[in-house]
Amino acid sequence: MIPAVHEVALAQQLNHGTSFPLIYQAEAELQDIDAVAAWVQANQQLLLEQLAERGAILFRGLPARSDLDFDRVVQSLGLANFSYAESLSNAVRKNRTERVFTANEAPPEVEIYLHHEMAQTPVYPSKLMFYCELAPSSGGATPLCRSDAVLSVLEERAPEFVSRCEQEGVRYTNVMPASADLASGQGRSWHSTLSVATKAEAEARLSALGYGFEWLVDDSLRATTSALPAIRRLDDGRRVFFNQLIAAFRGWQDARNQASKSVSFGDGQAIAESDMRIVCDAGEELTFDLPWQTGDIALVDNFLVMHGRRPFQGKRRVLASLFD
Ligand code: FE2
Repeated sequence: MIPAVHEVALAQQLNHGTSFPLIYQAEAELQDIDAVAAWVQANQQLLLEQLAERGAILFRGLPARSDLDFDRVVQSLGLANFSYAESLSNAVRKNRTERVFTANEAPPEVEIYLHHEMAQTPVYPSKLMFYCELAPSSGGATPLCRSDAVLSVLEERAPEFVSRCEQEGVRYTNVMPASADLASGQGRSWHSTLSVATKAEAEARLSALGYGFEWLVDDSLRATTSALPAIRRLDDGRRVFFNQLIAAFRGWQDARNQASKSVSFGDGQAIAESDMRIVCDAGEELTFDLPWQTGDIALVDNFLVMHGRRPFQGKRRVLASLFD
């Protein structure tokens, strides 16, 4: 099955002969959200196969007009929820429904660089779904980038860096504020990030996760992860550059954090800035900027594809939901 949509082209990236992302335009028969939910349910298996192969699918022209409509589509996919409240995400978000929340509350001029969702923590979702409730007047695309393609490029341009990533893994250091900092893309407070009320509880949680930590004078909390894998092997054998290095190196800059110091190899040794430049350039070269139209829904495989957020002007409301 699958019809009720047809494939369209939008100057995508080419990866191993197929276009990335896969873009579907809805036919008129998907006229209301009930029809969409039934169609998604009926095609669940095929959609998930296409997602695993291509990494991202954009659905355009669906009659999804509200957060509740989006919630319907999310539920119709029939996958378990990955809850933001229990995650260790650093982003400030607001829930609309139990499964749907605002993607990131950081100010419009702040760019959120390419990353695999929550790959800087030991727990991450396998898939993400985005919904454009309101397209911005300019900018605000969601960059999407295949990490298998990035890894192939890096193996040519920086083989030594790749083998150190593979052997050592990487660590991330982030200073979390005592209360939410809405000016930052990493502004979630340590209370909320760790789901704790007291410092003692925070310490217990971090210790259980294998993090190192240090309290700072303003009650902010510097936390360093254990060595986390930087390269991952997918079920089908493909190797991917699965981590949060680009976002951390380019973007974890705020009143508390210095971006270039936020990452290291797993043994604690610094990653050369020249290597990180090669990584960031490869990411930009291989990125497809998804230009949102109001009503668009996109499904992203978090193990295969990185995402981010370009700066924008005007209002932009993109909602998200995560799958376990
Ligand atoms: Fe994200």
